[in-house]
Amino acid sequence: MRRLLIKNAKALVGTFPAGVSRVAGPAMAQLPVIENGWLMAEDGRITALGSMNDFPGIADWSDLTVIDATGRYVLPGWCDPHTHTVFAAPREEEFVDKINGLTYQEIAARGGGILNSAMKLRAMSEEDLFAQARERLLVMMHQGTVAVEIKSGYGLTLESELKMLRVAKRLKAELPLQVKTTLLAAHALPPEFKEDRAGYLDLICNTMIPQVVAEGLADFVDVFCETNYFTVPEMERVLEAGAAHGLPGKVHVNQFTSIGAIQAAVKQGALSVDHLEVMTEADITALASLPSTGHRERSEAIPTLLPSCSFFLRIPYAPARQLIDSGLPVALASDHNPGSTPSGNLNFVLSLACIQLRMLPEEAITALTMNAAAAMQLEGELGGLTIGKRASLLITREVPSLAYLPYAFGTDHLDTVLIDGKPVRSGEVLR
Ligand code: NIG
Ligand code: FE
Repeated sequence: MRRLLIKNAKALVGTFPAGVSRVAGPAMAQLPVIENGWLMAEDGRITALGSMNDFPGIADWSDLTVIDATGRYVLPGWCDPHTHTVFAAPREEEFVDKINGLTYQEIAARGGGILNSAMKLRAMSEEDLFAQARERLLVMMHQGTVAVEIKSGYGLTLESELKMLRVAKRLKAELPLQVKTTLLAAHALPPEFKEDRAGYLDLICNTMIPQVVAEGLADFVDVFCETNYFTVPEMERVLEAGAAHGLPGKVHVNQFTSIGAIQAAVKQGALSVDHLEVMTEADITALASLPSTGHRERSEAIPTLLPSCSFFLRIPYAPARQLIDSGLPVALASDHNPGSTPSGNLNFVLSLACIQLRMLPEEAITALTMNAAAAMQLEGELGGLTIGKRASLLITREVPSLAYLPYAFGTDHLDTVLIDGKPVRSGEVLR
């Protein structure tokens, strides 16, 4: 048996009780911690934890790795429930175009954007796509990410969407972090269907979804529901087809315009509504209140915010305060992709959440752990220091306080990253 003991931690952070599936509203600021804590893991799962004052001692020292975490925090590993990490090439030319004054939409209208990425991806071999995405994920794990959702959406043909999802499936098999996959065929209208939108929707709903499900390639379905991309009725059609095949929706909505997508996604029982940079009062009410026709007690859609996308595109930041103050369980993610967020660093997302979204450090940590795990249906496995969950943990360097983590932005505060009890990054405490 592989056993791990972490002792003398400055605090164990995020010791959510078993059974908590998400944390909403004011409770997000009540991050549970155990000061001066110890934690035991066996075969990659957390088996016991508590305060050093009540440390029971060790009877059997065989096969035991002991970490002295004096002065350091132990946190649940970061979960990233929204990424496009499988892609063919970066787009730094568009970055320069943006500096020169073009907007994301103007770049897309000139043939840049998602279609630019799709043409490159179609031409790239599965092997090269895998090798590149693997490198990105190794960097993200080093930065504390222990679970990631990966979307397709740069193929836009049956063959290339399947190629992307097969790459993601292989990443899941070969890397230690948890991977969930999402079919985002409705990311942009491919040029072949320029005059036949309904034809592309048919392809997605009648061919891609059934085939992806038959091959076990996706956990969720996504739609970029936005002016000039896909309409609300088109999103509804894809969400219905996904639901008929057991794929919950995780949708891109309200990034640039508010067109009624949230109301529709809530009605369809989407697992998460992501972006939310442009929100009306009606949108917030739709998320925070009873769905008009559903049988659920309240909307189950988790608002998932992507502040590094706002940072990079210089678009508004999502109204996190209003969402939390309306009683919602906000999650955070990176949105890692070549066009709007060429960074998968969730430590930076933590800082932006506090600096730009005005989330408290405790709220932002809850959003990147418990609620982020929930936004990818991993709440039973990750997101908290809880007996029975995976021992996928972060051990910080010596820092003065928890608030120091987002405060001193751009500085690497992590010492060690463990996934299922095994180090993917060894710092001082494990050297
Ligand atoms: O989440 N908005 C849609 N999709 C991505 C960007 C995709 C791209 O520009 O390549 C996003 O921001
Ligand atoms: Fe995205």
